[in-house]
Amino acid sequence: MHKLNNLAIELNGILKDSVAYGFLSPMGQRMYFPKGIVAQSDEAKEKAKLYNATTGLATEKGEPFHLTDIFSAFRDGVFRPSQIFSYAPGGGDKELRAIWQREMIAKNPHLEGKKISMPIVTAGLTHSISLIANLFVSPEDEVVCPDLYWDNYELIFQDLIGARMKLFPFYDEKGGFNTEGMKKALYDVKGDYARIILNFPNNPTGYTPSASEAKAIVDAIVEVASSGKKVMVLSDDAYFGLFFEDDVEKESLFAYLADAHENIFAIKGDAATKEEMVWGFRIGFITYASKGFTDAHIDALQKKTLGAIRCTVSNCDRPGQSLILNAYKNGKSYLADKEHLFSVIRSRYKAVHKAVSKHKDETVLTPYSFNSGYFMGFSTNGHDAEELRKYLLEKYSIGTINIVGRTLRVAYCSVEEEGLEDLIDKVYQAAGELWS
Ligand SMILES: Cc1ncc(COP(=O)(O)O)c(C=O)c1O
Repeated sequence: MHKLNNLAIELNGILKDSVAYGFLSPMGQRMYFPKGIVAQSDEAKEKAKLYNATTGLATEKGEPFHLTDIFSAFRDGVFRPSQIFSYAPGGGDKELRAIWQREMIAKNPHLEGKKISMPIVTAGLTHSISLIANLFVSPEDEVVCPDLYWDNYELIFQDLIGARMKLFPFYDEKGGFNTEGMKKALYDVKGDYARIILNFPNNPTGYTPSASEAKAIVDAIVEVASSGKKVMVLSDDAYFGLFFEDDVEKESLFAYLADAHENIFAIKGDAATKEEMVWGFRIGFITYASKGFTDAHIDALQKKTLGAIRCTVSNCDRPGQSLILNAYKNGKSYLADKEHLFSVIRSRYKAVHKAVSKHKDETVLTPYSFNSGYFMGFSTNGHDAEELRKYLLEKYSIGTINIVGRTLRVAYCSVEEEGLEDLIDKVYQAAGELWS
């Protein structure tokens, strides 16, 4: 094998007595943040007061050269060219990261006073998950996951990394989250290290555990950790905040796991993508925590993550970071716009519930319990969901998604409320025509 870089050896030495160490993949072991151009440029930014000849970024009068046609698309006087055209600092805009962390704690009060890392900016949540997979999952490792999941996990964990998804049924017999199945799957993972990814509000089901279910999930993970197994839990919080029922857990599992047990390595993957309604910007975050982490452990993990970003995309979207930051700091309708999205989606959610309940006596499709997020799903009860998807598209001009052949996902977030009852009626009608 290629000899480890001295910086990687140093970081591995720091991490050796932390829970994260044993999860490192071969790539994770090799990774470090080079003291190369980026680090030297950062140092120069502070000290090179006379001439700063470090970065490959062409400047004039202290601002980057730029196309006026692009800059003029931004409103006069809001941004300096450097806020749009420069590289963002490694790890992301410091102010944005600090605000993201502050807001994370405000939205997850159980994080108050807990040691968590400063979120690192990534190129979207997909990138966050992919970075975590590269750093902490090795070929042949098992990644525990409920059997209704975002299909990109398969591409990332199985096809990119060569690991295996270890699935357990998402729902228990009462239509709640299958905590027992999760616990069994974690215990069944071979070896001393278990990895799990959990996504709530869930894509594709639209389900988030209730507060008591969330507690049971955390207790189950703590139980596995107490048995001596080390558990890495990646919380995919893509749809965080879209909770439409009172009894739904409103905090990320990360908030509870961050200091739950020395053997738990908690990672939060989240993004501005859906939380701030900026799908086309590519801005996500990674935040680390564990009960036993010291500042040095966190710093070493950050450096490995920065290295993994440096060798893939090098740096993440600067205009997007500036635009979000500006909305946070100077926005006049930030909260109102977010509230608007929330109330519109919640109203669609209610309309879908009503529409689905009309068909409660039909057995051709079974809706999964849903209470949050953008989606709801139907079990096709042994029939091929792809057949239904195609039929809906061809006969009814309705687009839906087939998930692994046995679930039809309906993204009600992208259909106006007036059409939802008709949409659901037609889904049932089409399934009836095919299979009754
Ligand atoms: C569950 C889940 N995780 C992650 C993502 C990726 O988000 P991003 O667009 O920020 O990469 C998505 C997007 O659809 C998702 O549904």
